Amino acid sequence: MLKGKKIILGITGSIAAYKSAMLVRLLVKQGAEVKVIMTSSAKDFVTPLSLSTLSKSEVLTDLSDNDTWANHVMLGRWADIMLIAPLSCNSLAKMANGLCDNLLMAVYLSAICPVVVAPAMDEDMWHHASTKDNIKKIISFNNAVIPVEKGELASGLVGDGRMAEPESIVNWLQHFFSKKSDLKDKKILITAGPTYEAIDPVRFIGNHSSGKMGVAIAEEMKKRGASVTLVLGPSNILVPEGIELIRVKSAAEMYEACISRFENIDIAVMSAAVADYTAANIATEKIKKNDGNFSIELTKTKDILKTLGEKKKTNQFLVGFALETNNEKEFALKKLQTKNADIIVLNSLNDAGAGFGHDTNKITIFDKQGNEYKFDTKPKTEVAKDIVNTIIQLLHA
Ligand code: CTP
Repeated sequence: MLKGKKIILGITGSIAAYKSAMLVRLLVKQGAEVKVIMTSSAKDFVTPLSLSTLSKSEVLTDLSDNDTWANHVMLGRWADIMLIAPLSCNSLAKMANGLCDNLLMAVYLSAICPVVVAPAMDEDMWHHASTKDNIKKIISFNNAVIPVEKGELASGLVGDGRMAEPESIVNWLQHFFSKKSDLKDKKILITAGPTYEAIDPVRFIGNHSSGKMGVAIAEEMKKRGASVTLVLGPSNILVPEGIELIRVKSAAEMYEACISRFENIDIAVMSAAVADYTAANIATEKIKKNDGNFSIELTKTKDILKTLGEKKKTNQFLVGFALETNNEKEFALKKLQTKNADIIVLNSLNDAGAGFGHDTNKITIFDKQGNEYKFDTKPKTEVAKDIVNTIIQLLHA
């Protein structure tokens, strides 16, 4: 599973560093390519010679060495993953605060690959409020943490703080890479954001959708190996590289973009807040106000999800969304059926932290078999994982 994977192993000053030699051996045995970076205090616990022999590669410690500069940016770009094991209390604090006083921290700060750490420290240090804060902080920077284990510690005490065993770390990496290719070769179409329906050259009918949920799903799908096309309505949100981005304004443009691509798509996720009505006539000049009231004639837009539901082949999977304010379950189930979707993701505007604009969401997913999957309020990036996991689970069912 780790064959050909490029791994940077960072080793910091902790007694658990003695386990790093075994870790390198296991990784190399699995076919991974390992480059080791040590902090200078890690050398007090394990020798660079053991690690360079086991990794078959020079061990790096310093930002510059004998007039040669270690290219930390390229190291961070070379790796598929950066693993720091053991991560000492001191290096954790540096990561949490962006300190850059050695090569390992320079590589960490410039790494564009995922980063995972396996902390190791004595129990009291592990439970200190500042350590807890620092762990929370590095998780919020999108780093993963392999939980510490309970057991005998260097102090002689027994408690939390032991670095996970090398075998558990290797299992974690195997699981990470297998998850990463869950959607390999799958072609995904996602809609996100609002649509703007023009009334005249300066005005439009729109809604408050930010596009955050759809972009988070696109990013998660891409991480799992899929090839993702995102059809995005007017939104300022940044779209990560590697996602094909089609920018549209109106419901009609979004409809065209989706229908013309659907044929070759494996999974379509319609998370956009598409206008249901559009102006029957768009004024070519700015509409001037007058004394009386004003009304606009609206005509219905085409329903993208429903059209895809009608065209759907048996090997295509269709995901719809339902944003409701009342009779949530009833309306969501009706949309599941009338639009011929495979699942409907419901979010209710009555739930705190759910719906437009928030960084969090609270969802319930309904499938065609009558199952209901309820999730807690979470950041939209985590909600995206729940949605993608549910899709994958149902694809394999
Ligand atoms: N949808 C769509 N095209 C439209 C309208 C909606 O693809 N013209 C999709 C949305 O992206 C979402 C689902 O249909 O996946 C449900 O959208 P929603 O606005 O909740 O429901 P509507 O069908 O528009 O019904 P209503 O507004 O009456 O609740």
